[in-house]
Amino acid sequence: MHILMASSEAVPYAKTGGLADVATGLSKALAEAGHDVTLVLPLYRRFIPEQKRGEPVALMNIEMRQSTVKATVRRSLLSGTNVEVLLVDQPTFFDRRQLYTEGGQDYPDNAERFIFFSRAVMEIAQTLTRPHVIHVNDWQTSLVPALIKHERTLGGRFINTGTVLTIHNMAFHGQFAGWQMELTGLPKEYFNWQQMEHYGHLNLLKTGISMADMVTTVSPTYAREICRPEFGYGLDPLLVQRGDRLVGILNGVDTQEWNPAVDAHLPLSYSPATVADGKARCKESLQEDLGLYPRSEALLLGMISRLTDQKGLDLITARADEILQADVQMVFLGTGDRHFEDALKALQQRHPGRVSVRVGFDEKLAHRIEAGCDAYLMPSRFEPCGLNQQYSLLYGTLPIVHAVGGLADSVVNATPETIENQTANGFVFYDYNSESFVDAVWRAVGMFTHHRVEWEQLVQTGMLRDSTWRHSAGEYVKVYDRAIRLAAQPD
Ligand code: ADP
Ligand code: GLC
Repeated sequence: MHILMASSEAVPYAKTGGLADVATGLSKALAEAGHDVTLVLPLYRRFIPEQKRGEPVALMNIEMRQSTVKATVRRSLLSGTNVEVLLVDQPTFFDRRQLYTEGGQDYPDNAERFIFFSRAVMEIAQTLTRPHVIHVNDWQTSLVPALIKHERTLGGRFINTGTVLTIHNMAFHGQFAGWQMELTGLPKEYFNWQQMEHYGHLNLLKTGISMADMVTTVSPTYAREICRPEFGYGLDPLLVQRGDRLVGILNGVDTQEWNPAVDAHLPLSYSPATVADGKARCKESLQEDLGLYPRSEALLLGMISRLTDQKGLDLITARADEILQADVQMVFLGTGDRHFEDALKALQQRHPGRVSVRVGFDEKLAHRIEAGCDAYLMPSRFEPCGLNQQYSLLYGTLPIVHAVGGLADSVVNATPETIENQTANGFVFYDYNSESFVDAVWRAVGMFTHHRVEWEQLVQTGMLRDSTWRHSAGEYVKVYDRAIRLAAQPD
């Protein structure tokens, strides 16, 4: 099968969050399973150096609001794989300091930028590759299923090409003023409340949900959650309406990137058999580099995250001082909302040598935190899938999580029964409030301090969990097959 994967980010080209890991990890797994995969991305000039840009293969002219936008498409292979990468080079739109936002503000022309990118993907599907399925991700590429659907009405093109939208986060709709509809090049009839319009606005995520042949999201639990008002951000009725065309598939982990046995970022690599020595060395070196007291007995808690409301930082900042009364240390790496950055920095000042806060994006440090910490904090308010809890499990770092979305689907709470049947791999709390959160932290502190044998059992269970992409990639192929069949059927 030939799959065109369109994404606004992918490692190692550009990344703000988990979407980048998923776009690449899934593409690689599909290629390893024998499929032809073309990954299409914007060419962000500040992030993608010359040597990674590949050769120009096509020029493109797209008419947008009475002017012609020109772009060059460059082709290369994803390093070490046979995944074809096509980069859309349009410097006015993509030669920016960041991907989507700068100084806490969205770029004012994000509608133009990503509608243009989606139209470029469409052009690529028409001229450069002939995919059997087009897989788009989040609002940035959600227009593509609508463009395909429209083409199908104009004389039968693309009737054998399935479209699949994966929702990575319902909180981001790509919602813009209604007049931006004209950028899409689609007839005005599509601007109705069942397709592209949402209370007078152009809503790109809604567009994709209503028009893709199949819709997926990144965990089975999140697929159920987003059909309810608490998690659906107003699109829950539409998701319910899409019925069995909505499928939840848990993200895998790219174990070439995230694997403590081969991780070049670590001072000492380790496997389940050598985890005690490996983690001790990684912890010591992390404490030293971050200016934390070199205490192996202290429970070192880590967090690597976008610092936003989604990630449960309000629970952490509310109770961290209390948690630090125990023999606990904390390390945070992240960027995001200013008030969370400030609250964490203030925490660091109050607890020198016991709390370390790094504001920024640092891939190497992220790996070292996963390896060097004992436990990982992920008390997210909502979490479509979450990758860091899965990385933590593989690195023998026990996750402390709120039971939502992919966290509920990957972390098994330590209880007498789950310890007995050897399925426990972390600490889970079920109500989103700081009492329940702190209770889970105390359970972790208690086991770390007094029940090391059980702790080590949880570490082993986590490290041996199968989180490779192989299984999930197989589930996506089933979705692609259905999308292709549905594409040929009229509504
Ligand atoms: P989300 O996509 O909601 O941000 P995920 O858990 O799915 O959450 O993925 C986050 C990804 O981004 C992980 O690979 C994580 O290590 C990475 N990441 C987040 N913030 C940083 C940071 N400040 N530095 C390095 N990596 C980060
Ligand atoms: C989103 C979600 C996160 C998920 C990631 C990749 O950013 O917030 O939970 O893991 O996408 O699918």
